[in-house]
Amino acid sequence: MPTARLSLDRSQFVAPVRRRIFGSFVEHLGRCVYDGLYEPGHPTTDADGFRGDVLDLVRELGVTTVRYPGGNFVSGYRWEDGVGPKADRPRRLDLAWHSLETNQVGLDEFARWCRLAGCELMLAANLGTRGIEEALDLLEYANHPGGTALSDARVANGTPQPHDVRMWCLGNEMDGPWQIGHLTAAEYGALAARTGAAMKMVDPALELVACGSSGSGMPTFGEWERIVLEQAYDQVDYLSCHAYYQEQDGDLDSFLASSLDMQHVIETVAATADHVKATGRKERSIAISFDEWNVWYVAEHEESGKITDGWPVAPRLLEDAYSVADAVVVGSLLITLLKHSDRVHAASLAQLVNVIAPIMTEPGGPAWRQTTFFPFATTARLAAGDVLRPRVEVGTYPTARHGEAPLVDAVATHDAASGRTAVFLVNRSREAVAVTIGLGDLGPTRLEEALSLHDDDVYAKNTLADPERVGLRPNDSARLADGAVEVTLPPVSWTALALA
Ligand code: AHR
Repeated sequence: MPTARLSLDRSQFVAPVRRRIFGSFVEHLGRCVYDGLYEPGHPTTDADGFRGDVLDLVRELGVTTVRYPGGNFVSGYRWEDGVGPKADRPRRLDLAWHSLETNQVGLDEFARWCRLAGCELMLAANLGTRGIEEALDLLEYANHPGGTALSDARVANGTPQPHDVRMWCLGNEMDGPWQIGHLTAAEYGALAARTGAAMKMVDPALELVACGSSGSGMPTFGEWERIVLEQAYDQVDYLSCHAYYQEQDGDLDSFLASSLDMQHVIETVAATADHVKATGRKERSIAISFDEWNVWYVAEHEESGKITDGWPVAPRLLEDAYSVADAVVVGSLLITLLKHSDRVHAASLAQLVNVIAPIMTEPGGPAWRQTTFFPFATTARLAAGDVLRPRVEVGTYPTARHGEAPLVDAVATHDAASGRTAVFLVNRSREAVAVTIGLGDLGPTRLEEALSLHDDDVYAKNTLADPERVGLRPNDSARLADGAVEVTLPPVSWTALALA
């Protein structure tokens, strides 16, 4: 059996655990909103039409922020369509997803849903078909207390208190030729700078996110970030990163090492932002908002999922059913995000319900947890205090896409106040790996939880017919003795340990 040795101590401090890393994303896309989190007439529905069973799962998932309302959708969206009496709201063509938008859910309802879910709302402004004026109007409607046309409209629409949205995305994936109103880096950088400057005239404490590249495979990756920041550095606080991964051509080994690409994205974007900081003689650093990340079988959807016929309401789009291997990759991507908490201050698992999502629903029927639900919920629940980046001594294996990949990757958190430590590990190997974790000066005396996600069938999934096929199981091999944990990680698995 291969072995690995982890050494942990407080000197490995990276940054405090940033709760916004456990964010997610709700787009008006497919059945994410309609027939997902919103389904009037469902037996669990509240007065607003929101499903109670979905809310319970969102709370259990531990989501901290939700990016809304898109995504590609936002680049054609008129936010005014989604406020006021529902009967008066217009139906519109959604060009991004070739669907019909009924506008029965809009900003005020979604903000209420966020409060029920215990999440912070993060809004995206449309810089595709719209610009500075509409971004300012939306900001006034959402955040101004009252006494102006738009804030009074919000009050009249039944929301006396401002939504007080702190994080704002200045558009979405404006580098992508598929984006409505797609711009060059120079054009977008200028628009983001002007929009950001105007929004900060309303409230200098807003946290603004400029669009980075929509993926590391984009031909302009790196250049886009440099050019945008050279214009908008002083007006923005974050640059976004987006990354989706999938197993391709049956190459599970490369897929399991996807987090090496995420690491490359974070390090490249941080280096580019720091280059602009140095050449522009800036004092402040730009943080990363990794506001779209997940496993997504995008190639399959491109072949089969395009709607060209009609304009359906809430069609079944991008409804990936996730396997154990997918969940192991999601767990390892979370490990990478945490390891880079010094630079990644916010992140959004894309998306939340039905659309490439950890939560699935059936109209009139149940809601269930996908495999990917488990590493997310457990990391969000156990990560606390400070992030520690352990020293990991372990062998590597060759991959076609990412070169040599370590068999095991890990991150830890330590909360000095409670004395609790959590360790999150991924085993990418097809064999079990025996791991020894030296706990240095952390001094735990009790192993409280040892949970692994593993299945002999790495392609096992949870489905409507079998919603609990895959779940976390206690890892009975874990032992704490003499200041070290011994644990055997099953083949292709994700594991969490909680020590007190
Ligand atoms: O999350 C699905 C889509 O992926 C989003 O709408 C877009 O921003 C990205 O390309």
